[in-house]
Amino acid sequence: MRIGILTGGGDCPGLNAVIRAVVRKGITQYGFELLGIKNGWLGLIEGHIIPLDLPAVSGILPRGGTILGTTRTNPFKIEGGVGNIFAQMAKYEMNAVIAIGGEDTLGVAFKLSEKGLNVIGVPKTIDNDLAGTDYTFGFDTAVSIVTEALDRLHTTAEAHNRVMVVEVMGRHAGWIAVSGGMAGGADYILIPEAPYDIAEICSQIQKRHGRGKGFSIIVVAEGARPKDSGPITSSDEKDAFGHPRLGGIAHFLGREIENRTGFETRVTVLGHTQRGGSPTAYDRILATRYGIAAVDLAKEGRFGVMVSLQCDKITSVPLAKVVSNIKTVNMDLYEIARVFFG
Ligand code: F6P
Repeated sequence: MRIGILTGGGDCPGLNAVIRAVVRKGITQYGFELLGIKNGWLGLIEGHIIPLDLPAVSGILPRGGTILGTTRTNPFKIEGGVGNIFAQMAKYEMNAVIAIGGEDTLGVAFKLSEKGLNVIGVPKTIDNDLAGTDYTFGFDTAVSIVTEALDRLHTTAEAHNRVMVVEVMGRHAGWIAVSGGMAGGADYILIPEAPYDIAEICSQIQKRHGRGKGFSIIVVAEGARPKDSGPITSSDEKDAFGHPRLGGIAHFLGREIENRTGFETRVTVLGHTQRGGSPTAYDRILATRYGIAAVDLAKEGRFGVMVSLQCDKITSVPLAKVVSNIKTVNMDLYEIARVFFG
């Protein structure tokens, strides 16, 4: 069997661990031939395809990014894109594709599987907002980075008696904000799922400072929005999947908080540091388990599915179920975080 692998969408620590697992088990235990498709779906449209042998994946387990490159390409928005994909599959005599991605990459995988492509999905995103799995790899690493940043911001906030507003990723779901904020002891956490009221945030900060605390740490997901309007965007441009570029909420809140409370306020935007660098041990193991499960599914000839983690067991779910909605923050978890607000 000849299988292509691609990585699509925003990169994420652990992508190389999945690629390594697929190639190692595919070659050594099943005698498969593996091909690397460069730059997501774009590489399959343009025929940018390389052989993946054992030396190609040697030493990549701890490396962030992806040795295959990635783009946010939507073949359904490119004239002839879907036709080219099937033509390249035939040209390279590929029997199946393992697509490692989030909601957009796997949304394309689903639509292509409906057109007859043999495809297996692997759930990737630091945002952890993909339905059908308990966790996506990359999320644990992002939460660790946010936690470490909050620990560092605590000491400088305390030294200067300042309010620190920290913007983290998460456009539709606030998993990174809630988890990182809880682990890092945030005094308020704003997420897209719970539209905020600026007056309420300021009153919590004032109460806290009234108790003698001289500083506060506010964590905000980039997609958080006030009760009466949408999220703040940093550009009018949209990507191939129609997503606007978010960003700017922390600066907006920082100004508002300082004006309304009179407390000196500073802003930190963690941005792409949350996606860069080496994966945590948890993400390396999860990514490896997903890669092994994906190649096992290919061996069994089971396509149109995504590998998934459920109650610590690796299983699979139909792609149709994954792409029908996103997984938003569990409000029980947010309620626990709220106990520590103010
Ligand atoms: O989808 C993952 C993600 O990291 C989002 O949290 C964020 O909004 C987006 O990617 C940023 O995308 P880009 O890499 O295009 O700036």
